[in-house]
Amino acid sequence: MIDAKPFFSQIKNISLRKELLRAIRNHWTHDSTAIEGNTLTLGDTDFVLSEGLTIAGKPLTHHQEVYGHAKAIELIYGLLDAPEITEADLFLLHQAVLSEHVADIYYPVGKWKTEPNYTFYVREEASVEHEYPHPKTIPTLMSQWLQRANAWTKGIGNRDDAIHSYTDLHATFVAIHPFIDGNGRMARLLANIPLLKNGFPPINIPSAQRLDYLNVIADITAPCGDVSLQTDLERLIDADALKQFSVKCQQWWQPIIDLVDRTIAKDAKSNAP
Ligand SMILES: Nc1ncnc2c1ncn2[C@@H]1O[C@H](COP(=O)(O)OP(=O)(O)O)[C@@H](O)[C@H]1O
Ligand SMILES: [Mg+2]
Repeated sequence: MIDAKPFFSQIKNISLRKELLRAIRNHWTHDSTAIEGNTLTLGDTDFVLSEGLTIAGKPLTHHQEVYGHAKAIELIYGLLDAPEITEADLFLLHQAVLSEHVADIYYPVGKWKTEPNYTFYVREEASVEHEYPHPKTIPTLMSQWLQRANAWTKGIGNRDDAIHSYTDLHATFVAIHPFIDGNGRMARLLANIPLLKNGFPPINIPSAQRLDYLNVIADITAPCGDVSLQTDLERLIDADALKQFSVKCQQWWQPIIDLVDRTIAKDAKSNAP
């Protein structure tokens, strides 16, 4: 399936194709930014992106986040013909995703993080502190991640491979946490590149399942213990917990697959003599 055409290219009716891409852009942008705390609804997101108007009473930054994410999706579609994805592509996408932030030395945008970063998650009603890999490990880890992403692009033959590729790239990316911020949104964009390059539609994590998603991600990284100085990508994720993530992604992918299938059926009808 290498060098397959993008999933939308088989839709001949241009209006249908544009509407499908708009619907996917809206869901992907709304869900990914809502997981991160954005307060715009799906309807708000469509209105802001389609009409260029603002939603009264909602923060300016939430409007900018939605624009930045939609721009990043367009950049990703633009990368589909490139032979490989590179570090420079990741930096450009990060600039789009975080376009609302004024970069400074403590908040690098379009560059790897320069300070250690942490998260606290809850296990058995207690807070557990987790330190992400240290900034000095990031160039090594991210060069492994890019190799893996480019290898997956050549290794997807069916839907199971597609899900495995998505969960592997998503989980390893957030486990590395190479940026100061925007790591979740970047993972939810980047892990779809091999799927899109192989003719599959993107997997979308529904914001309604935010807690489930964050718990499974914590389950994937927690068993690896202290990874702050780890330079081997393989040792950042737990294989059993990754399987749980794959089971969930299979369900979460279905609404987008159904939407694409319905559009293809409608297109066939509209082209029938
Ligand atoms: N325990 C964890 N281990 C690894 N990644 C995590 C963990 N908890 C959350 N995450 C990931 O980190 C993301 C939040 O990181 P952040 O850099 O703030 O990204 P964003 O700004 O896009 O939300 C979450 O969406 C999730 O993907
Ligand atoms: Mg954040």
